[in-house]
Amino acid sequence: MIDKINDLLKRVEEFAPKAAAEVEEFRIKVLGKKGELNALMEEFKSVAPEMKRELGQKINALKQAATQRINDLKEALQDAAAQKAVAVDDMTRPGAAVADGTRHPISIVKNQIVEIFSRLGYTVAEGPEIEDDWHVFSALNFPLSHPARDMQDTFFVEKASNEPNVKDLLLRTHTSSIQVRAMEHQKPPIRIVCPGRVFRNEAISYRAHCIFHQVEGLYIDENVSFADMKQSILYFAKELFGETATIRMRPSYFPFTEPSAEVDVSCNLCGGKGCNVCKGTGWLEIMGCGMVDPNVLEASGIDSKKYSGFAFGMGVERIAMLKYGVKDLRLYFENDVRFLHQFDSAL
Ligand code: DAH
Repeated sequence: MIDKINDLLKRVEEFAPKAAAEVEEFRIKVLGKKGELNALMEEFKSVAPEMKRELGQKINALKQAATQRINDLKEALQDAAAQKAVAVDDMTRPGAAVADGTRHPISIVKNQIVEIFSRLGYTVAEGPEIEDDWHVFSALNFPLSHPARDMQDTFFVEKASNEPNVKDLLLRTHTSSIQVRAMEHQKPPIRIVCPGRVFRNEAISYRAHCIFHQVEGLYIDENVSFADMKQSILYFAKELFGETATIRMRPSYFPFTEPSAEVDVSCNLCGGKGCNVCKGTGWLEIMGCGMVDPNVLEASGIDSKKYSGFAFGMGVERIAMLKYGVKDLRLYFENDVRFLHQFDSAL
């Protein structure tokens, strides 16, 4: 029996498998229920009592050595397999592709608008979304009774107060508030575009949302004329909608500009012939604009005798709708990746 034990011990020590499966096979053969070790145990029962002590110790040592060796071999082979899996054996192999996200269409269009005006020397200015009455309305020449101040349009953060020294806080209803902040802090010439989110208390539908985005523009210097405004906007329209785009201006009214106009661009879908997008008119409305009212310049401490300027404001969702033909505004806010993945842009 001692020879059998020594023989098995020797085989355990010399065992040199190449794969983890071989180790498992060996484990079953040696340590398994019907394995060689159990067979030895069985045989041990019938050895002479004076031999039991020595043989018992030998069998125990064999069991320990076998268990240890099998565990060590298993671990070593698993490590080797894992290392092989990560090892790059072909250094010229192209890397694994990483799935990119895409930019949100509103960001794409906003970035395009900003980029076009930056070529004309405009820089980006931003302002807070929670504003006070002064920057959103009063400094922009809104009469106290103007309907835009009404609770129905404006989300108030702090209840409107009669106290003269308490500022009413509200969510800005337009990015024109950033104009005021810029004029307060900068000396002309001022040439800025102001992208941002705005908020109005509107029922959500395919054509209206309580959150949307605007880009405001402001140019103030000596001798800025209506003709300068018209050329700048024409340049913008051609850059955004293509070389054949033309614009027209219709007289309009905004409290902060005089004279004011609404700008239409020739419908890029039908080329001006009339289609269902432009409702047969051949024109699409893209923005409001006008010469900054002297009252607005003065309210922010700019000498209206020396300086003049123009301002314009447009809705980013509206421009995106015209560019991409997406007619339901809500899609821009739901962030369904199936929708978002259709827009890909470097900007
Ligand atoms: N603030 C206007 C709006 O929200 C848009 C606008 C119109 C901005 C005319 C201007 C402007 O700067 O001159 O509807």
